[in-house]
Amino acid sequence: MKIAVVGTGYVGLVTGTCFAETGNQVTCVDIDERKVQKLINGIIPIYEPGLDVLFNRNTAEGRLKFTTSLAEGIEGAEVIFLALPTPPGEDGSADLKYILKVAGDLGQLLKEYAVIVDKSTVPVGTAEKVHDYISLGAQVEFDVVSNPEFLREGVAIEDFMKPDRVVIGTKSERAKAVMSKLYAPLVRQGNPVIFMDERSAEMTKYAANAFLAVKISFMNEIANLCEKAGANVDDIRKGIGTDSRIGKRFLFAGIGYGGSCFPKDVQALAKTAQEYAYDFQILKSVMDVNAKQKTKLLPIINQHFNGDLKGKTIAVWGLAFKPYTDDIREAPALENIQALLDAGAKVTAYDPEAMDNVKNVFGNKITYAHTSYAALDDADALVIMTEWPMFRTPEFNKMNLLLKNKVIFDGRNLYELDQMNELGYTYYSVGRETISQAVEQAV
Ligand code: UDX
Repeated sequence: MKIAVVGTGYVGLVTGTCFAETGNQVTCVDIDERKVQKLINGIIPIYEPGLDVLFNRNTAEGRLKFTTSLAEGIEGAEVIFLALPTPPGEDGSADLKYILKVAGDLGQLLKEYAVIVDKSTVPVGTAEKVHDYISLGAQVEFDVVSNPEFLREGVAIEDFMKPDRVVIGTKSERAKAVMSKLYAPLVRQGNPVIFMDERSAEMTKYAANAFLAVKISFMNEIANLCEKAGANVDDIRKGIGTDSRIGKRFLFAGIGYGGSCFPKDVQALAKTAQEYAYDFQILKSVMDVNAKQKTKLLPIINQHFNGDLKGKTIAVWGLAFKPYTDDIREAPALENIQALLDAGAKVTAYDPEAMDNVKNVFGNKITYAHTSYAALDDADALVIMTEWPMFRTPEFNKMNLLLKNKVIFDGRNLYELDQMNELGYTYYSVGRETISQAVEQAV
C-alpha cells in the first residue's frame, strides 16, 4: 500500500518506518526543513533502540521517503496518518492547531478516496473536528479514523510490530477494510484488532494511560505508607502482582512517572472530564500524588545533611524520565537537580543517553561526568533518579573508593536492603526501611 505519515516526531517516525518494514511505500511529511534534510541524509533525530536498523534498510530499499511537501507526500496515498504534536494548552487541554491546520490543507489537496488516521493522542471528538475541517474543501470521499498508539519509548519498535492490540475507531466499513489490510502483518499471532467508534477509540488511549498512572501512583502511596508502617513495598508488589486480576507490571514504586505521555494525558483527561462537568476525583489525586512523589527524596536528603547542602557535591545517576531513552520531558531528575542547586549543592550528573538534552536545560550550572563512576568522584552522596540497568549491579569496590561518604538516596529501589547493609551504606529508598550505619563511614 502507499501511505503517508504527516509529522516525523517520535510517533510518526516509528509508524512510518515500521509500515515501510511491512512492505508499504511510505512518505513522511514534515514542515521542518532541517529535520527533513537530516532524515534524507540518514540522520535520525531521536534515540530509539532498533529504529536505526529498520530506518536504514527501508530508506536504502526505497520504501521510506521524506518530504516537506504535503501535496507530494499524500500523492496516491490510501492512508494518511496524522502524527502531529498536541501540546497542552494553558488550561491543560490538548491544543489541536497543528492537526486542524493539516486537516484543512488535506481538504484542498485530496484527489481520491483516502483514510485519514488520527494517530496523535487527541481528546474525544477530535475525529469529528478533523472530518469537518477536511470537508470544508474536499471534493472527494474520505474517512477519518482514530487509531491511537500505545508505544512505550525505548521499546516502541517492538510495541509497534507486536502490538497487544490495535484499536481502530471508525464506523465506515470501507475504512475498516483498508485499516485491517494495513495492520494484518502485525497481528498474525492473533492479537486482536478491536473496532469501535471514533469517540471510544479516542477515550481508550486516555483510559489506558490514566489507568497505568493510577496503578503507579497507588503503589507510590502504598510505598509512602510502608515507610511509616514499617513494611516493604517490594514485598507488597510481589504479594499483589501475582494476583492475575492485578498483574505484575506498573507496580514499581519510585519517584513518580514522567515522560511525554502520562503527565500530559492524565491532565488532558481531567480537562475533558471538567468540560463534561464530571468530577473525576481519582485523576485529580493521581496528579497530586505524582507531583509530590517526584521530589519526595529532597527533604530526606536535606535532613541527612542537617539542612545544609551548601558546598556539598551530589552525584546524580540517571537524567532521562526512564531507561532506554534520551527523553527528559517531565523527568523527575530536572526538578530535583534544580532544587539541589537552589540549596547550594554542586551536582555532577551522568546518564548514558540524556546528557546532551540536559545540557540544554542546565548548561554549565552542573558538571557532566563521562562515566557513572566519574560522577562519584569526591561526591558527598549519590542520588539515583533513573533505573538504567547499568546502575543495578555496579562495582561497589570502585564506588567505595570514589564516594566521599557511603550514602545513597535511591529513587528507583535498585538495591537490596541486606546488600546495602553488608556493604556498609547508608541507604534511603522508596517504601522501604532506611539502612543507617551507626557511624557513617568515610572512605
Ligand atoms: C507510555 C505508555 O506506556 C504508552 O503505551 C503510551 O503510548 C505512551 O506513554 P512511555 O511514556 O514511553 O509510554 O513510558 P512507560 O514505560 O509507560 O513509563 C511511564 C513512566 O512511568 C516512566 O516515568 C516510568 O519510570 C514510570 N513507571 C512505570 C513507574 O514509576 N513505575 C512503574 O511500575 C512503571
